[in-house]
Amino acid sequence: MATSRVDGTSNGSVKSKDEEGTTPSIFEIDDSDLQRLLEKPRQLNTERKRSFDERSFSEMSITMSPRNNFYKTSEHSSRAFDNLDGVYSPGRWTGTPRSAYFEPHPIVGEAWEALRRSLVNFRGQPVGTIAALDNSSEELNYDQVFVRDFVPSALAFLMNGEPEIVKNFLLKTVFLQSREKKVDNFKLGEGVMPASFKVLHNPVRNTETILADYGESAIGRVAPVDSGFWWIILLRAYTKSTGDTSLAERPEMQRGIRLIMTLCLSEGFDTFPTLLCADGCCMIDRRMGVYGYPIEIQALFFMALRCALYLLKRDCEGNDCIDQIVKRLHALSFHMRSYFWLDIKQLNDIYRYKTEEYSHTAVNKFNVIPDSLPEWVFDFMPTRGGYFIGNVSPAKMDFRWFCLGNCVAILSSLATPEQSSAIMDLIESRWQELVGEMPLKICYPAMESHEWRIVTGCDPKNTSWSYHNGGSWPVLLWLLTAACIKAGRPQIAKRATELAESRLLMDGWPEYYDGKSGRFIGKQARKNQTWSIAGYLVAKMMLEDPSHLGMISLEEDKQMKPQMKRSASC
Ligand code: GLC
Repeated sequence: MATSRVDGTSNGSVKSKDEEGTTPSIFEIDDSDLQRLLEKPRQLNTERKRSFDERSFSEMSITMSPRNNFYKTSEHSSRAFDNLDGVYSPGRWTGTPRSAYFEPHPIVGEAWEALRRSLVNFRGQPVGTIAALDNSSEELNYDQVFVRDFVPSALAFLMNGEPEIVKNFLLKTVFLQSREKKVDNFKLGEGVMPASFKVLHNPVRNTETILADYGESAIGRVAPVDSGFWWIILLRAYTKSTGDTSLAERPEMQRGIRLIMTLCLSEGFDTFPTLLCADGCCMIDRRMGVYGYPIEIQALFFMALRCALYLLKRDCEGNDCIDQIVKRLHALSFHMRSYFWLDIKQLNDIYRYKTEEYSHTAVNKFNVIPDSLPEWVFDFMPTRGGYFIGNVSPAKMDFRWFCLGNCVAILSSLATPEQSSAIMDLIESRWQELVGEMPLKICYPAMESHEWRIVTGCDPKNTSWSYHNGGSWPVLLWLLTAACIKAGRPQIAKRATELAESRLLMDGWPEYYDGKSGRFIGKQARKNQTWSIAGYLVAKMMLEDPSHLGMISLEEDKQMKPQMKRSASC
């Protein structure tokens, strides 16, 4: 049996576990083995690990004690997977298989080659990856480096022990943040990070410049709220994975974090701790009825707040910001866990809601009219299981399932362990609807006919079961895999990954698939879509070595108590 190297070559031999000193894959070990594996410090780079672990989240995480305004550290968790947060990620793949039992799929090598072809250089240094390398269709802005699209590429490079490109990217983008941004005559907030950027070559002068888009060129002219959050999350992943704290400690990076925080923590007319946004300000970057308080942004907001807490220095400027973050985290977790969570019991409660209640005693706080419950949700909701719904605002609950928000809720521990298990139960029991023939539905279900006309504004790209409107996006595989491992259910991710690898290379790494079960390559899907490639690689690497999860997952903070328990049926 031949095993393939990360560069696509085959070494033609398999060494035993003892010879290699490697660990078995997650599928050949039982729970206690896994716990030992996750707890066992790696022998490589233990010096770096030790020094970095001194700053691990639990030790740095602070929570406000209600009685005396005193900051105290959160407890270490005893759950097996919580410990992943402190696990050091291993170094670069050298071409030697790390596990004798884990046979890399033949497309892994091809995926690495495709990922490397997508690299974008600026003045001789790699600074990102292009969104899609597809010359067959109109470029639009797919020839740019998107901040959100680069995240899976960055994780793949970090997991492969190649952090330089990630560092270059983080430095370039923080520099772009400090530029003045304008849409027509209106100046955007200082902290706004670009959605994407492009390297321009001037062949006459032989110079290179960077042109960034903060929403002023994007379809719909919406600024990307998610970019800044992903930037902070990636900075933590870099720090966690390399042990190099010096990058995050640089004044321009500290300022970058604070500017993003200032943007989203500023006080205004809000009565909710969630973040109010316009339609299309995230991965779903077109009108799709995700304005208000979309789950994708709320989960990323929560995760970015926690990562910022981890990264900010305790100095005069940092302390102010830290105070605000701590308060917001508490309010946000209460709000999300109480009002966004839906399981069969909660659904039944809403179904029986009284309306027009006034004052503090109101049960139906947002005056949701039970008649607005869509019919599909009664069939979709399993007896065991639950999820964070798409949006909650006055008299409006969007009951659609959104993949990214739910996975990020698990990774950031916005979801309690019980809620994480319930989300996994739902994915398992609604496999046909959410995974079908290609992982993974971006949202469920699709909007059709009249609803599609009103909500999307007749968008021909977002017709039913296509693109953002119920299409299937391979990039989401990495998020599903990370969430599954965190929730202790890697088998679910393995099943999804096998489905993806049976088609992705053959189909040319499409951006998305269409149809109720995701059978068809998307109507306008780009080929060689980089995040489809990188997402697959990250999923594979995490399944092979679950300790990689530590760079993208945060352990539960015991101080943030769940407000709503899972119903007895779960
Ligand atoms: C599409 C997607 C967006 C992505 C971009 C580049 O606009 O909706 O999420 O970042 O393509 O791939």
